[in-house]
Amino acid sequence: MIQIAVLGYGTVGSGVVEVIETNKTDINKKAGEDLAVKYILDLRDFPGDPYAHKVVHDYNIILNDPEVTVICETMGGTKPAYDFTKQALLLGKSVCTSNKELVAVHGPELIRIAKENHCNYLFEASVGGGIPIIRPLNYSLTAEKIDGITGILNGTTNYILTKMDKEGADFEDVLKEAQDKGYAERNPEADVEGYDACRKIAILSSLMSGKNVRYEDIYTEGITKISAADFKYARQMDKSIKLLAMSRDTEKGFFAMVAPFMISREHPLFSVNGVFNAVYVHGNMLGDSMYYGRGAGKLPTASAVVSDVVDCARHPGKTIMCFWDEEKVDVADISKAERKFFVRVRADQRESAMAAFGSLAEVNVGIAEEFAFMTQVMSEKEFNEKIEKTGGCLNRIRIMA
Ligand code: HSE
Repeated sequence: MIQIAVLGYGTVGSGVVEVIETNKTDINKKAGEDLAVKYILDLRDFPGDPYAHKVVHDYNIILNDPEVTVICETMGGTKPAYDFTKQALLLGKSVCTSNKELVAVHGPELIRIAKENHCNYLFEASVGGGIPIIRPLNYSLTAEKIDGITGILNGTTNYILTKMDKEGADFEDVLKEAQDKGYAERNPEADVEGYDACRKIAILSSLMSGKNVRYEDIYTEGITKISAADFKYARQMDKSIKLLAMSRDTEKGFFAMVAPFMISREHPLFSVNGVFNAVYVHGNMLGDSMYYGRGAGKLPTASAVVSDVVDCARHPGKTIMCFWDEEKVDVADISKAERKFFVRVRADQRESAMAAFGSLAEVNVGIAEEFAFMTQVMSEKEFNEKIEKTGGCLNRIRIMA
């Protein structure tokens, strides 16, 4: 019997309990042992809930119970999740988490502590919700040198951008509607400014490099400046606009960034719509592979947490290999990264834009007050210099090669 404690009885925590109960026959068979939730830690009480009798308010009860060998941390945030996780690992109790913030900030340290104490710190649910992506990177693609990851890693922004694309609506209107329907948070900053996707690509980039890619070093831009007009131009070019989180291991350096990109219909990420997430991985032997599914939500995320619990049950007293050292990766300045850009300027800037950019391809959707165009391939630095010579722009969106 594997006795489990669940920290935080919110959306994901209650999902963990539900997944274990609903699929118990299959899960127990696959784990090789029965899983049982012994405690649920929460500040609140849950009168009437079938698991109300398992709720405790004192973490020490869990720490001091030698029967509890696996802890599901579904609290979110770094405080007190960091201290709780560290205390458990130091006692040799494995921790399975959905907490991307904690993994992005303290992942390599917690992985090391788990290793020193012959247990596991597993985080399949921290990126892409229910989509298997951590395990493929850690186990399935071990014969590869992975040199590129591109992801749609945030469901809220993908939902908003998809609606803007399909309905021709503006950002603010779609955000408000998404908030009213409960799809977007009342405080949507972490999603719409790209911070959530930044934490997630930091985790994937670290697994790709085997070293620590700090989220603070990743250039991050959100979707708040994307307008209905931008989508009009995108459609004219048979493209869409997606918030992409990407990293590239190149001869020129290790690049990582989060920003809205225009992508063509031919790209597999073009069709990833609504709340769905996808991760597009390039390996030097396999080439491209893509992992797609529900990146958020109670049961998909809980399913990934429980899959980690099953992994713990299959490896008693053993640490499952995970290559994520504490050594920092030098993330290259994006000014060196090269690509095409889509640019909108005022109609009276046409001549200065043509003089600054030379060869460009005009895109016309009949907005008389604007001149819009696609540049040649150039570095971010070169682009910034040219746009300054042009006298600024209404908006610019990077184009995915
Ligand atoms: N706010 C996140 C999203 C939840 O919208 O994708 C899952 O991490």
